[in-house]
Amino acid sequence: MTRNFHSEPFSESTLTKLELFQRYLVEWLPVFLSSRTGFVNTVNIFDFFAGPGIDGNGVDGSPLIIYKSIFLYSRFIRKNNISVNLYFNEINPEKSAELEKNISDQNKNRRPFSLSIDCKDFIKVFDEYYPIMQHPNTANLIFLDQQGFSQITDDIFLKITSLNTTDFMFFIASSFVHRFRKEKITKKYFRLSDDGQGTIDNNYVHREIRDYYETIISENNRKWFLGQFSIKKGSNIYGIIFGSKNTLGIDKFVRSCWKIDPLRGNANFDIDRENIDTSMPSLFPEMNKPTKIKEYELELEKYVMSGEITSNHEIYIFSILNGILPRFARAKLKQMMYDNIIPKQKINISYNAYKEKMINIRLDYGTKFKHRMD
Ligand SMILES: C[S@@+](CC[C@H](N)C(=O)[O-])C[C@H]1O[C@@H](n2cnc3c(N)ncnc32)[C@H](O)[C@@H]1O
Repeated sequence: MTRNFHSEPFSESTLTKLELFQRYLVEWLPVFLSSRTGFVNTVNIFDFFAGPGIDGNGVDGSPLIIYKSIFLYSRFIRKNNISVNLYFNEINPEKSAELEKNISDQNKNRRPFSLSIDCKDFIKVFDEYYPIMQHPNTANLIFLDQQGFSQITDDIFLKITSLNTTDFMFFIASSFVHRFRKEKITKKYFRLSDDGQGTIDNNYVHREIRDYYETIISENNRKWFLGQFSIKKGSNIYGIIFGSKNTLGIDKFVRSCWKIDPLRGNANFDIDRENIDTSMPSLFPEMNKPTKIKEYELELEKYVMSGEITSNHEIYIFSILNGILPRFARAKLKQMMYDNIIPKQKINISYNAYKEKMINIRLDYGTKFKHRMD
């Protein structure tokens, strides 16, 4: 990333990152703003690496995307009496002043939220606002668009994952991982020797980093759902790591990813190096199916048949944590019934079904044969 990142037009990859953020944001906002059914009466959105608000062409960056999106919910915010607070931070004084100006150029008429703009180092401002994030009855969305990957220390990660009703997205650049492969911070993510030797497949850098954070979560006995999405820019790969304590959060994130990558839902490029051309599909349907889906189907069948997965709830969680939409699970189970691997039965797999009574998967044909004999 160059120093004058914001005086030039955003690159395609930056636009993809912002698109994913915006898609998630507009899914997240109505959960807390459009009705007052839950316990949440305060909504905080933190953009700690905000930049000046626009690029060289006047295209909105993350703080202006947030600012404008909230106005769409003005009526609901007032009707439901919800306190909405935006916290933007940018360490560079020039950019921070530019952000102030770009915000003051916006519609300020009857803002349905409060707004703070800081010009501080992330660590300082994060600590200052941390008590606000901890308030009861509060929902937080934390966007950490750092340059590189050093700002999200284990300490910050543990603090974020000890919060309630919080979703976060942070950004990691693979080029930094390679540049610092001899450093302790890199070696903790990857199996590298002391002098930094070892293979890191660029395409899967973020999957491994996500696995690292999964380990931190399980070692600390926390229950969080993590997802990730990779974005290619030249030879560099940037990754978004997403986290939510709530199933609905990860469900919405995975859906947002599939809107950007309709083939695999995890990258804006051919991450598994398969050369599938959707505009000229192969005559053999299996050749058009990404490896990610084939592997998922094989695993799902194996877990169902071995009894490791026994219910529609478990199938749903297994799918969504692998970044797979529930429709693929439904299709696979339908095929298993068609192939007489499991008996015909009604198994609903979706977020809504997950919130309802659990249904066990029947593997035996006993009842059916008994019925036939009768
Ligand atoms: C990738 S840019 C953010 C872009 C922004 N999200 C947007 O959409 O335009 C990262 C920003 O973080 C700022 N920054 C870098 N280190 C920082 C730190 N330690 N604390 C706060 N901001 C920092 C940089 O000046 C830069 O503007």
